[in-house]
Amino acid sequence: MTQTLTLTRPDDWHLHLRDGAMLQAVLPETARDFGRAIIMPNLVPPVVTGDQAAAYRERILAALPEDMSFEPLMTLYLTEDTDPEDVAAAYASGLIKAVKLYPAGATTNSASGVTDFDKVRAVLEKMAEIGLPLCTHGEVTDHDIDIFDREAVFIDRVLDPIRCATPDLRVVMEHITTSNAADYVRSQDKNLGATITTHHLIINRNHILVGGIKPHYYCLPVAKREEHRLALRSAATSGDVRFFLGTDSAPHIDPAKESGCGCAGCFTATNTMPLLAHVFEEEGKLENLEKFASQNGPSFYRLPENPETITLVKSEAAAKFPKKIHSDDGPVTVFDPGFDIYWAVAN
Ligand code: DOR
Ligand code: ZN
Repeated sequence: MTQTLTLTRPDDWHLHLRDGAMLQAVLPETARDFGRAIIMPNLVPPVVTGDQAAAYRERILAALPEDMSFEPLMTLYLTEDTDPEDVAAAYASGLIKAVKLYPAGATTNSASGVTDFDKVRAVLEKMAEIGLPLCTHGEVTDHDIDIFDREAVFIDRVLDPIRCATPDLRVVMEHITTSNAADYVRSQDKNLGATITTHHLIINRNHILVGGIKPHYYCLPVAKREEHRLALRSAATSGDVRFFLGTDSAPHIDPAKESGCGCAGCFTATNTMPLLAHVFEEEGKLENLEKFASQNGPSFYRLPENPETITLVKSEAAAKFPKKIHSDDGPVTVFDPGFDIYWAVAN
């Protein structure tokens, strides 16, 4: 017996595509299933100006296989030197759809991020005025804050003060990993949304550490206790318009992950939609998968839903996904949920 589920073609509201050979290798993995994605600007050097975002967009489109369609939704990397007028011009031209806030030092390539939030106040006020969303990496970086507490402390020390000072600013709390974040989002008005990754619905911190360290499960924000994973499942599958998919699919070559100091990031572009179908079915909420993956994101970003559909098929035999994808920089390991998946996207 096969079962099918047809949905509006989904979008990914948080994606790392990198550049060069890696971009070439990973872009088809996303474009196969997704119509659009919010493209993270944490390249080396970061995408800081409108001109840099326009050039990066051209490189993405040049890397897209001819038989695929995909729209990269560009972002700018917020620094203490960002010019509010450059941001406004890049938004007015239709080039960018969001600005990304990384607290300095929070994660991969975030050294140019923000330390003194007063220095970005003028940019945030301009964004509130023109309706341009701010995407936040929601972790403080203070050395005295335990890594498992950094998201909860970010809400109190950074996010809530920004929301109070600039209530009209539309904010996405990205890749939330705690019940604290889900509860905070629910307690706020519709100017605050949150993305949830595929992998945070599947792993908790035991998956990273029990029985030997598993570098391919290490990402930032790091996965938390089981009770938080369950809270994320409940938020993602609820249908609540404030929660939507942002995979944070973040490719690194295997030697960079399997290292004495391994990089953060799970690569989920290849199998996200089958994994999500599995999770939503387990929760008895398959009917809400379309809201999470295809409808709530466009609603927050005030964009139309994709006109196409995709069909997921559930078979009796386990689906086969590649364990790795090849890039000319080296192999990239595809996220392994640790159990069989019976859903696949029909071609
Ligand atoms: O795990 C992560 N990887 N989290 C991030 O915030 C950045 C990302 C990356 O760029 O590798
Ligand atoms: Zn990310």
